[in-house]
Amino acid sequence: MTMGKYFRIILLVLLSLSITSESFSQPASEFHERRAKLISLLDSNSAAIFKAADGRTRSNDVNYRYRQESNILYLTGINEPGNFLLIIPKGIEIDGSCLNIIFFASENLKDSIRATEHELILNTNRFQEIFNSILPALNTLYVSAPDIGFVNDWLNNRRYYLDKDSKKELESKYPGLKVMKIGSLVAKLRELKSEYEIEQIKRSIEITRDGIRRALEVCKPGVAEYELQATIEYEMIRQGASYTAFPSIIGSGKNTLEYHYDKNRRKTKAGDLVVVDVGAEYNGYAADITRTIPVSGKFTKQQSEVYNIVLQAQKEVIKIIRPGIRLRDLDNKAKELIAEAGYGKYFKHSVSHHLGIDVHDIWSSDTLKAGMVITVEPGIYIPENDDSISTEYRGWGIRIEDDVLVTSGGYEILSRNIPKEVIEIEEMMRKNK
Ligand code: GLY
Ligand code: MN
Repeated sequence: MTMGKYFRIILLVLLSLSITSESFSQPASEFHERRAKLISLLDSNSAAIFKAADGRTRSNDVNYRYRQESNILYLTGINEPGNFLLIIPKGIEIDGSCLNIIFFASENLKDSIRATEHELILNTNRFQEIFNSILPALNTLYVSAPDIGFVNDWLNNRRYYLDKDSKKELESKYPGLKVMKIGSLVAKLRELKSEYEIEQIKRSIEITRDGIRRALEVCKPGVAEYELQATIEYEMIRQGASYTAFPSIIGSGKNTLEYHYDKNRRKTKAGDLVVVDVGAEYNGYAADITRTIPVSGKFTKQQSEVYNIVLQAQKEVIKIIRPGIRLRDLDNKAKELIAEAGYGKYFKHSVSHHLGIDVHDIWSSDTLKAGMVITVEPGIYIPENDDSISTEYRGWGIRIEDDVLVTSGGYEILSRNIPKEVIEIEEMMRKNK
C-alpha cells in the first residue's frame, strides 16, 4: 500500500471520529518557538509530517482514554485525534500565501489552534491534495507517526511493516526523495526544557509529593497496595493531574523486587518495605518519584543499612551532575558505589532517564546539557533465594528516585522537598499515627 493510500484510509477513519478530549493549556508562544526551532534543523528542501495518534480505542461501547502522540503534542499542544501538521521549511504557496506550517484539523478544532503569520489551518480533507503536490520536488520527507507500525491486514491474514513499505514505495516513486523518521531531530528540542516546561514538571512533582505524603499517612501493616495507589492517585487527580504519567508501582514485600510491578493487589504485612514509584502527569508533563517506606513505620536494622547505601549512592551520583557529564557516567558511578558497598550484583537497571512529556522522555545525545531533566534512581534488590547473604536481607528491594534539572552550574533537585532520609520517613510516619 502506498503512503498516499494509507493516509487516505486513516483520514476516513479519523474524520468519522468525534472529538471528545481537551487540549493542554500552554502559551501559544511556546509552540511557535518550538516549530521555528524545528524548521531550523530541517533540510531546506524538505517537508515534515506529523500525525496525531488515532482516536480513543473503543471496546464494547466504552471509549478508552485518549493520549496524543508526544511529538505532535510538543509542537501543537493539541490533545485530540484527527490532525496532521505539515512543515515545509522553504514554504508552499496555498490560496495566494506562502506558508511553511500547515495544520490540518477538523472544523471543531480550528478555534483551539492559534496559528501565526506563515501558518495556516486547513480542513483535513485538503491534506491529501497538498501532500501529493509537494512530494515530487522534495529531497527529504521526515515522518513522525509512531503508530504507523505493524498493521494487521486481517482480510489477507498477514502483517506488514507499513513504515518500511511506505518508505520503499515512496522512494521508488519519487527518485531523489529520502524518507526518514524525524524522532532524533525533535529529540534535540524536547531534551532541552524551556522555563515553561520546567514549571510544569515542578508542578507535577509537587502534586506527586502530596500524593506520597498522603500515602505515608495511611500506611500501616495490613494496608493493601491498591489502597496506597488509590490514596496517591486521589491526591494527584484532586490537584488537577490529567493522568498518572505511568501505571503506579506500589510493590510491597517480595513485589519490591519487580522493577515495574503494577498489579498492586497484595495486602502488606508488618515488617514489609513498600516501593512507591509514582508520578503525576500535569498539563502534559510527567513526574517520576520513588520512595521506599517501611509499612510498620520503622526500618529494620538490615533495611536501613541497605537503604542508606542506596541513598548515599543516589546523593553521590546527583553530585556529579553538570553539563558535559554523560548519562553513562552517572550509571557507572552508581554501579561502582553500590559494588564498593558489596551489593553490586543486586543493582542491574540503569540509574537515569530523561523526563518530560513522556516519563521516559526522548533524547538525542548521552551528554548532559543545561535544561535537561533526568531521574536518578539507584536500587538494591536481593532475591528471596539468595543464600550468599543472611536471611534478614533477602526478599526485598529498595529504590530511591528523584527528578533533577541540569543547570549551567551543576544541578537542581526538583523533588528535594520529598523526604528521603531514614529519620525523616520514620518521623513522618510516627507523626501521622
Ligand atoms: N518509574 C518507572 C520507570 O522509571 O521506569
Ligand atoms: Mn524512573
